[in-house]
Amino acid sequence: MVDDNAVRSDALVFFGATGDLAYKQIYPALYGLTRRGQLEMPVIGIGKSNWDLGRLREQARASIAEHGPVDDPTFERLSQRLQYIDGNYLDPATYSKLRQTLGQAAAPLHYLAIPPSLFPVVVQGLANAGCAGHARVVVEKPFGRDLASARALDQTLHATFPESSIFRIDHYLGKEPVENLLYFRFGNSFFEPIWNRTYIASVQITMAENFGVQGRGRFYEEVGAIRDVVQNHMLQVLALLAMETPLNSSANALRNEKLRIFNAMRPLAPSEVLRGQFRGYRVEPGVAPDSRVETFVALRLHIDTWRWADVPFYIRVGKCLPVTATEVWVQLRRPPQMIFDEVSVRDSNYLRLRLGPDVLIALGARVKTPGIALVGRNVELVVHDESASLMPPYERLLGDAIRGDGSLFTRDDCVEAAWSVVEPILNSDSQPEIYEPGSWGPATAGLMIQGEGGWHDPLAAG
Ligand code: BG6
Repeated sequence: MVDDNAVRSDALVFFGATGDLAYKQIYPALYGLTRRGQLEMPVIGIGKSNWDLGRLREQARASIAEHGPVDDPTFERLSQRLQYIDGNYLDPATYSKLRQTLGQAAAPLHYLAIPPSLFPVVVQGLANAGCAGHARVVVEKPFGRDLASARALDQTLHATFPESSIFRIDHYLGKEPVENLLYFRFGNSFFEPIWNRTYIASVQITMAENFGVQGRGRFYEEVGAIRDVVQNHMLQVLALLAMETPLNSSANALRNEKLRIFNAMRPLAPSEVLRGQFRGYRVEPGVAPDSRVETFVALRLHIDTWRWADVPFYIRVGKCLPVTATEVWVQLRRPPQMIFDEVSVRDSNYLRLRLGPDVLIALGARVKTPGIALVGRNVELVVHDESASLMPPYERLLGDAIRGDGSLFTRDDCVEAAWSVVEPILNSDSQPEIYEPGSWGPATAGLMIQGEGGWHDPLAAG
């Protein structure tokens, strides 16, 4: 929900214009926004690669073409808005040029698609050159590498920008099916009575990827799976599943409830975490030959509230697994007295929420198999099957930031609370268990969840 007083940004500046993130995500998002008429403003790229505007336009076109067919008039509209400043981030002249290029624009949106180590110097440069007043700033994950560094980054940003002008990106929050978790839970009445420890036995979330680190070995060595996707994407999904009803749908009401649930998550115990590494990771470019960085994690988490006492939450993420799919599985308890004795834990009711790459909500139920015996089989009631093409998360999030809607961005205290949850497991120097590419990770990952009927492996998208 956008605040009534929010001013629409009147220019978009992106640092890191010649980089990887711009190529993969930002140009396609700018193109999508242009197509929808949402980018009627100067768009200024800043980089340090000895490029000129012509080269930047070529890069933009190549990036957009990689994501789909390019409509020439739309691209031309974007291309005409693009401007480029080639400059060193340490040099005040870069920011003076930016001020000049901004012209009349008084409320720019600055997107920092650069390593966090550069945030202080860029933020200071913007402030000194008069580019920060009434401005917004969008920052990329990973937001810090632990609680202390996240706090330090917050301090750096707060020295120049109020919290309401800071937009921390977690692109999972820009995904339609992730936002639908909130809507589905709180837009219906039939789930609330069963959404608690009395009816739910356990919850598991799997984020599987059937590819490795894709040339990002150097980056991945610095993060590993816990920092890359657990502290942010997975805990955000978990928060949406477990939080209490927000007072309303305003950005702050949502974030207040998320903060409460992050605070209720028990910091992860190393004994409830299993780290794995796919065979072959150590020979990836940029990876140390004796690297102990995890490419797979399976963990059990507890939420200390009345609603969730004794309900285990399991998270499993990994690279080089058999499929690419993110799925939530909510296991309901078995009927209090089983009169049909063929039903095992794995056969009891469940809710399956598929968050990607395709989208689905299904309820697992038992029905009787025709015949004289009282035996049944599993069926799924498909509640929702969304096949319409969904807006890519970066396009959605950039559009929201331009309008000043922070609902799908994370707040300082929430990011810090999420770091507190993973803090005890961040710096493990134990050897991760090696697993074969194409498998579901180390076999021992199954042991931690045996009592709940095991992991439910998502199927590949059909
Ligand atoms: C990114 C991680 O944040 O999310 C990547 O850095 C991961 O390692 C990616 O592959 C997954 O995003 P999606 O939208 O493809 O599920």
